[in-house]
Amino acid sequence: MTIIDGKKISAEVKAELKEEVDALLAEGGKAPHLAAVLIGDNGASETYVASKIRSCEQIGFKSSLIRRDSNVSEAEVLEIIAELNNDEDVDGFIVQLPLPDHINVDKVIEAIDPKKDVDGFHPINIGRMAKGLPAYISATPYGILELLKRYEIETSGKHCVVVGRSQIVGLPMSILMQRNDYPGNCTVTLTHSRTQNIKAVIQSADIVIAALGRPEFITGEMIKEGAVVIDVGLTRVVDESKKKGYALKGDVKFDEVAPKASYITPVPGGVGLMTVAALMHNTLKAARKEIYA
Ligand code: GUN
Repeated sequence: MTIIDGKKISAEVKAELKEEVDALLAEGGKAPHLAAVLIGDNGASETYVASKIRSCEQIGFKSSLIRRDSNVSEAEVLEIIAELNNDEDVDGFIVQLPLPDHINVDKVIEAIDPKKDVDGFHPINIGRMAKGLPAYISATPYGILELLKRYEIETSGKHCVVVGRSQIVGLPMSILMQRNDYPGNCTVTLTHSRTQNIKAVIQSADIVIAALGRPEFITGEMIKEGAVVIDVGLTRVVDESKKKGYALKGDVKFDEVAPKASYITPVPGGVGLMTVAALMHNTLKAARKEIYA
């Protein structure tokens, strides 16, 4: 069994990006610029955005943080997006989710210029990705593909079971794993809360991608011997013994599943760290106009 080291791979990816930025600057180019819009005071969002800004600094990107209170109007958020769309210095930007309930998330995402949508959430990017056209691929699926690639995990002809149908992870992951490419060429089953006999479906998987957000849902008995297990879950579970008062739990019961798996991602230290590296890669692509002219 091999534990997939997201910490090591994300550091490698970021070091490679830094080299590319250094070369870009040496040629007289400008530093790629990522902006982040953060609304409200969601603790997890604060942590994620801080990590994105920190990564920009490490790699040599310029970053901007635009913050508003949770009572900001939808109109003001749309105005901020329009300004970022028109700001020639900004190569790409993200609006950190979740948003307060009074703001329509679809409206916000659709207001982002797809050329600057480095999160890959805009319907145009999702549609282009589904068709196999150049597109920004959202950070978590992108990070998972990179882990599979760097560990040279065979995917062709395998049965990949994706657990969870979120628009950010499960749905795009199911599309990417079936495409005629590497990683890909899997026979994909997308399972969700209404799937009948989900245990038997997961038991037939060569590759399991767990992204349902239910701590330790995937147990040892659900996993076929030798399966590849990718754990996207990252739920804060109350734990008074921890300094922060919570522990981070994945969707996979690691101690039971790891002995049966050929490869497995830990939580933390697996997929989570890759998502920031993937966002940075998308930002460099935006600066270089690799996806859209
Ligand atoms: N909230 C949780 N994950 C993400 C992400 O990848 N991007 C944004 N913008 N918000 C998120």
